[in-house]
Amino acid sequence: MQEEIKKLEASIKGELSFVDSLDKLETFKLTHLVKKGTIQSLFERLKDVPKELKPETGKLLNQLKQFAESEYQNLKTKLDKTQETIVNIDLTLPGRRNFKGTFHPINQTLTKMVEIFVSMGFEIAEGPDIEDTYHNFDALNFPPDHPARDMQDTFFIEGEGNLLLRTHTSPVQIRVMQSQKPPIRCIMPGRVYRNEAISARSLAEFHQIEGLYINKKVTFAELKGTLIAFAKKMYGNDSKFRYRPSFFPFTEPSAELDISCFLCKGRGCRVCKYSGWLEIAGCGMVHPNVLLAGGIDPEEYTGYAFGFGIERVTMLKTGIDDIRLLYENDIRVLSQF
Ligand code: PHE
Repeated sequence: MQEEIKKLEASIKGELSFVDSLDKLETFKLTHLVKKGTIQSLFERLKDVPKELKPETGKLLNQLKQFAESEYQNLKTKLDKTQETIVNIDLTLPGRRNFKGTFHPINQTLTKMVEIFVSMGFEIAEGPDIEDTYHNFDALNFPPDHPARDMQDTFFIEGEGNLLLRTHTSPVQIRVMQSQKPPIRCIMPGRVYRNEAISARSLAEFHQIEGLYINKKVTFAELKGTLIAFAKKMYGNDSKFRYRPSFFPFTEPSAELDISCFLCKGRGCRVCKYSGWLEIAGCGMVHPNVLLAGGIDPEEYTGYAFGFGIERVTMLKTGIDDIRLLYENDIRVLSQF
């Protein structure tokens, strides 16, 4: 009999380690702890045990019974609690969303442009936002009476006669020429500032990306081909482009690059002022005076330069029709891109 009690004890311990649900616990109870259960039936056979062994056997059996009952109670309390938590979870509640950060739309455009130019062999260069009149105007062949030099167009730094907020990224061309030897193939992204009335179409600060290529025998045809190759990668193969003659003091000849309007596909709409075209870049062959200012011999080298605006294209791509929305950093606007 004592053997049997030990065996039962071992089997009960084994079973307990598998009880992980209220159902299994119930089965355990029905097998061992009820009137017709294993423990009780051993108690009934106690009367057949020889008298001298009875006290000891009875004690063993009682210990087993107490052990099984207290284990049962512990497990029940534990499993009841688990059950409660499961019941308390409201599975009909909507889940919590994870908010993912994104890059600012202007940064997205800029990054894409930089990536394409870098893949075409251009290196990145940068210059200061606070420039001097020499780099921003003089070295770029602006005549002394050019209207851009007027306070109405340019932010001058008060009390600092020749310091200003750069009005374009072109002064970086001069800095690059002065610090590198040709061949030079660079792009220069950055922020620029103009003293403009703030409206849905213009702000006092915006972004440009400048390009400069200087080598022996660089031609206008190369400039045209490079910009079209870039623009097709950037805006898609089915966009149409055209060059228009233009004027900049620092390039000669100069041109502007237009893209067929994204919105009306060239048919004419409010955005493209019914022309079907949008201006995306200024460009031209670097003026000999500019090469000279950069310390490069115009008899030996030629080059081209270009400048793209970032905001306009970003607005068209995102459908944002007020440039101010790009600078207010309203999460409701930004989180859409
Ligand atoms: N700097 C000119 C602008 O701000 C753009 C440009 C750059 C034109 C390089 C020609 C060559 O409008």
